[in-house]
Order: sequence, then structure tokens, then C-alpha cells
Amino acid sequence: MVGIFCCILKDGKAAPIVHSALKKLEYRGYDSTGEATIHKNKLYIKKDSGTIDEVHARHNLDDLPGKIGIGHIRWATHGAPLRENAHPHIDCKEQIAVVHNGIIENFTELKKELEELGHTFKSKTDSEVIPHLIEENLNRGLPLIEATRETIKRLEGSYAIAIIYVKEPDKIICVQKESSLTIGIAENAAYPTSDIPTFLPLTKKAVTIENQEIAIVSDGKYEIRKITDWSLVPREPKLIKWVPKKAEKLGYPHFMLKEIHDQPSSIRNTLRLQDQYLELMTTFLDRAKEVFLVACGTSYHTCLAASYMFSKLAFLSTHPVPASEFIEQQGKSINIDSTILAISQSGETADTLAAVEHARLHAATILGLTNVIGSTLTRVSRVYICQQSGPEVGVAATKTFTAQLCVLAQLALRLAKKRGKVSHTEMERLEEKIEQIPDAVETILQTQEERIRQIAKKYRDIEFFLFSGRGISLATALEGTLKLLETNYIPSMTFPAGEREHGPISLVEQGFPVVFICPRDETHEKIVGDIREIKDRGASIIAIIEEGDEEIKALADDHIEIVKGMPEILSPIMYVIPLQLFAYYMAVERELDPDRPRHLTKAVTVK
Ligand code: G6P
Repeated sequence: MVGIFCCILKDGKAAPIVHSALKKLEYRGYDSTGEATIHKNKLYIKKDSGTIDEVHARHNLDDLPGKIGIGHIRWATHGAPLRENAHPHIDCKEQIAVVHNGIIENFTELKKELEELGHTFKSKTDSEVIPHLIEENLNRGLPLIEATRETIKRLEGSYAIAIIYVKEPDKIICVQKESSLTIGIAENAAYPTSDIPTFLPLTKKAVTIENQEIAIVSDGKYEIRKITDWSLVPREPKLIKWVPKKAEKLGYPHFMLKEIHDQPSSIRNTLRLQDQYLELMTTFLDRAKEVFLVACGTSYHTCLAASYMFSKLAFLSTHPVPASEFIEQQGKSINIDSTILAISQSGETADTLAAVEHARLHAATILGLTNVIGSTLTRVSRVYICQQSGPEVGVAATKTFTAQLCVLAQLALRLAKKRGKVSHTEMERLEEKIEQIPDAVETILQTQEERIRQIAKKYRDIEFFLFSGRGISLATALEGTLKLLETNYIPSMTFPAGEREHGPISLVEQGFPVVFICPRDETHEKIVGDIREIKDRGASIIAIIEEGDEEIKALADDHIEIVKGMPEILSPIMYVIPLQLFAYYMAVERELDPDRPRHLTKAVTVK
């Protein structure tokens, strides 16, 4: 996730306006910042790694000259947070500058093709192919708008792009495909941007650029066309009446709720991972003699879920180990034949890094999954994958968990394919289902949130909860417990449903709440029996069920429904959503701040 803000004025200086607007986008990313302007037919650029304040202190962004400017704040997804990878990116002749939010899925092929044509690339980003492609089309004698049109025909993926060109300094060209872009329109100025609140101090008039549209923006004017057939789209500006209190939360009262709602789009990004990274990691996993899945906190729950995915789909047995226990438990047995897949959204968790370091010293192969390119984990891994969730601010992990699960599901599926463990038809079905996850999550958020809020209201004074599930749902139950514990300080416990007779059932008395995770998978029949037994002891059952599961609905005191037909190995991605919302609304009911749980930090960098 990154942020874009651009400015075109009749008179005045664009750079300071871009700079102060970018400050409002900082919640979208903060590892690099850059601005480009045009003055007297020359391009001026300042960019570097670091937050806006750091980059401004080093380079003074405000002294860039000119009436037209584009700006970008970055959260690295392709290429480390270094100066050369910061936006804007330019062409070989230094005449075109581009900022981009999104992912160009086919950039490797495009880059190769452009390099063969003589283009020199300065960055490791996917975005840099855009100015070079435009340059190539301009070389054919096309005007900028046509050159852009030809360029976007070649791009696969998602994008919000803004382009400026020294030979046509009277316009900014903006293109949108599945990434938000709005233009603020003033009398003698226009401000294309990722988020409306950035221009509200300057104008209240907004024009949204919809999916698959291109906009030619000049000072106070704009023309919008459909990318597909180039037809003109008449669209009047709308007056924005709301006043954003907290732009960075997009109107949500807390980051946790915003990040829960980010999930359809963050998962969509995760499903656009570059093939070659997935393929490389799959090859390492396939060759591995023994695989340890190592992480802390929520990321450890990802490891647990992943162990079911690998085993069920690819017949690969793995060992999930909490990082803090890894050296004690496995330290002596690690050797050149061991493979460690370390999972850490921050890439900086001390125990995870200590486990990795130990394994490295014993010649093991290190694979990493993280949300932060340039983090220590990316530097020590033989291969790493960036999960593409964008920055997560809430201490309790939400969108980074579902993104990790999506990456692992894709890896497990690839491995299964490589090993010939799933039929072609089953593979196609699973691939189709993975693609449906963002919409399924969206539906859950739209249809179940109010119900969950009511359930939280009902149980707000309860001081102890049990969570339970079978199979992969045990990982979901553990994550639900952790969310409630982190944000509400409620001493909850998870037990595998099959273990109930070995202790947990002794806790149950009249009205005691037990949350069951019940997808309609191979464990369904057994879970019905588990619920009956616990209910017979007087427990109040809260069940997360598949839509239309009348059998469990009849047993449960409260239920939350999840869209039908999702395969078992993908179920945690959807079944955890109500648990995140439940923890959130419980905290709100109990007047706690879910974004700042006591004694907890986002990244634990001490052991
Ligand atoms: C802390 C955070 C958790 C997170 C865990 C692991 O405990 O509060 O939300 O799951 O660290 O973090 P990592 O960055 O390694 O995934």
C-alpha cells in the first residue's frame, strides 16, 4: 500500500502543496518519499528512503520549482526501501515521471523486453516499467495520451498511476484499475490523489476516477475516458460535505477496525504475488528433508494453519514451533538438511530472528515470509516473500494474518501440483476458490458485522471464554482467543474439541460461553457431537458456521454465518474475520482502546 498526491496549478508552486498533502497519507506507508515537478520543460526530482519528515529534512522538498508536481509515499513491496526504489520513477531521457500504487504482475517480462530494446533500469520495482514503456511509445511519435493508452494495454495487475511529461507540462495523466484515485477540483487547480482528505483543505469538489478509467487533468479541468473503448465519461464533481477527523483511519474510529475492513483489498494484493517468488520457495520446500515453521504470536497461528495446508494438500509434514521455544526444542537437531520457514509480519521479532540465526549457523536453509521488505528477516533469508499487506498499525494483527494464510495456501497448492498430489480438476477448483476469497471476506463484513456487534454487547461482562475447533480450525480458534485476550484482557483458553474430556469440560457450568469454529469440512460431524456434549453441561454456544448449517444453528445460542462452499484449507481466512470483529466490539463495549492494548507492542524486538 502506498499513497499518491499530485497537483497542477495555474499559478504558484506545487511542491509545498504536495509535501503537506503527503503527510496526510503517511498511514499508507512511510519507508520512502518522493516528489517530481516540471519547470521550464525540465524535470526536477527529490526522493529518498525514510519518512516524509526525514526526507524533507535531508533534501528540502519544498524548493522544487514548478506549477505541476506528483508525489508518493511508499511501503516497499518490490525492491528494498532504498533511494533508487523510491518513486517517482523516470524514463531513460529523464522526461517522464511516474508515481504508481498497485502491482504490475507482468513486470518481469516487460522489463526484459524493454532492456532488450536498450532501456536502462535504475530500480528493482515493478513500477519502473511504466515510464520506460511510455518512453518507447513516445519514441514512435505518439502524443502522451496515446502513448499512455498503448502502455496500459500492456500492463497486467492493479494500478493508480499519475504521469507527467516535460514536453506536455500542462497536464497530469491518471489511470485507475482497482486502486483508488480521486481528483480534487478547484477553480485554477486540480489534485489527483489516493485519498479525499488530502485535498479537503484546498477544495471540497471531488471527481472519482472509477475502475478502468483514464483522466487527463489540467488546472481546474479534467476529461475522463474509459480505458476499454476510449468513450468519454461525463462526470460532474461532487461536493464533499464530511469533515475527516482522522484521515489516516479513513473515518474508522480505530485502526483495528479499519484494518479488519482493509482485508478484501489487502488479500487481493496478496493474491497478485509474483509467480517466480512462489515458484522458488515451492522448489525449496519440495527439496527440503525437514521443514520447521517458526514464528511468534499471530504469525505462529499462521504456522499452525499452514502445517494442515501442507500436509493435506501436498502431503508434506512440517513442524510448527513457537520461535521462543525453537532453540530449546530443536536446536541440537538442526543441520544442513533442515529448512526453516520463518514467518514474521515485521521481520524484526527478536525470538524469530534468534531462531533463524541459530539455524543459519547450523547450515540450515532459511525461507522468510514478511510484510516488510528490507527487514532483518529479508536480509537473512535465502528466499523471502513479501505478503503485500501494507502497513498495519493496530497492535493486534488482523490483515497481516489473513495475508500470511493466503500466501501459505498458494504455496501449499503449488507444492501439491509439483508433487502431483492433487488432480487437475481439484487444482482448478481450489485456484478458483482462492480467487473468490476477497469477495467472500467482503460479504462477511457486510452481512455479519452488526450481528457480531450485538453478540459482543450481550457478552460484554463475561470474564472468561473458551474457544474450540477441530483440524485447521484449531488455528482459527487460537487466533480468536489471542485477539480477545490482547484487546480485552479476558483470560480465555483454546482447546482442541477432541480434548474436551481431558480437562476443559470441567470448567463448563450454566451460561459459560464457548465459541466453536465449525466449517462444513471433514470434522463437521464430530464438532456437532462436541457441541452437544458441552451444551448438555449448560454452556452458551457461540458458533461460527457455514451459511445454512441448520443443525448447528439449532444447537447454538448465537451464530455467525460464513459464505458457503469454501474449501477446508482456506477456512481460517474467512472464519477468523468474525473473531477479529468480536474482539474489536468487545473492547469497544468495555471502553478499552483496541489499538493500544496495555503492555503489548507491535513488534517485540527484545527476547
Ligand atoms: C507481537 C504483536 C503480535 C504479533 C507478534 C509477532 O506480539 O503484538 O501482533 O503477532 O508480535 O510479530 P511478527 O512481526 O513477528 O509477525
